[in-house]
Amino acid sequence: MIPDPKQQVRRGYDRLSTLYRADEGAPAEYLGWTRELLARLVPGSEVLDLGCGCGVPVARSLAAAGHQVTGVDFSEVQLGRARRLVPEADFICADMAELRRAPESFDAIVCLYAIIHLPLEEQPGFLARLATWLRPGGWLLLTAGDRAWTGSQPDWLGGGTPMWWSQANLEAYRAWVRAAGLVITDESRVADGPVTHSLF
Ligand SMILES: C[S@@+](CC[C@H](N)C(=O)[O-])C[C@H]1O[C@@H](n2cnc3c(N)ncnc32)[C@H](O)[C@@H]1O
Repeated sequence: MIPDPKQQVRRGYDRLSTLYRADEGAPAEYLGWTRELLARLVPGSEVLDLGCGCGVPVARSLAAAGHQVTGVDFSEVQLGRARRLVPEADFICADMAELRRAPESFDAIVCLYAIIHLPLEEQPGFLARLATWLRPGGWLLLTAGDRAWTGSQPDWLGGGTPMWWSQANLEAYRAWVRAAGLVITDESRVADGPVTHSLF
């Protein structure tokens, strides 16, 4: 029997949370991304971090700069750590694809390395929904796929636990982002071992 992909992802992060990111973990590329986002935010901005993980480094940097951060993740272990590591932020344990918010609720939305864990058929609708939660002039910081691929690894990070991903190609993400009514102002590629992600 093939396990439910979302259950595999949730369990994977429950088990590999600290292996994926240490309490003080701050991969070099994140520093530049958060710096650029911070430069675009007015003081006291409301920021939603979808698939926030353990809250480090993104939610922590944004909260430390005085912004009101809400993080969403469906891994209880990731969220437990986030609540401990970033006590100034609010955290919601939920499937981000099921999340509903009022229109124009946030000044910025961050979604890093998380959309690629949603089944492909959920991704365009997810992007369309989150775009409505942005205020006019708001910002989305998103990593997505670069090349179409759906599959799993039986022993992710060597932690003895499987992980599952589903990603479309770069052209599809560009089209979905634009169909959501957003304008792409910056786009680049991010190398991640043998894989490349797109950054918007
Ligand atoms: C690769 S980690 C990235 C964490 C963080 N965004 C970062 O870049 O450090 C992906 C995170 O997305 C979460 N996630 C995956 N699918 C999700 C879903 N459907 N709803 C909520 N969280 C999800 C996982 O639990 C995990 O914490």
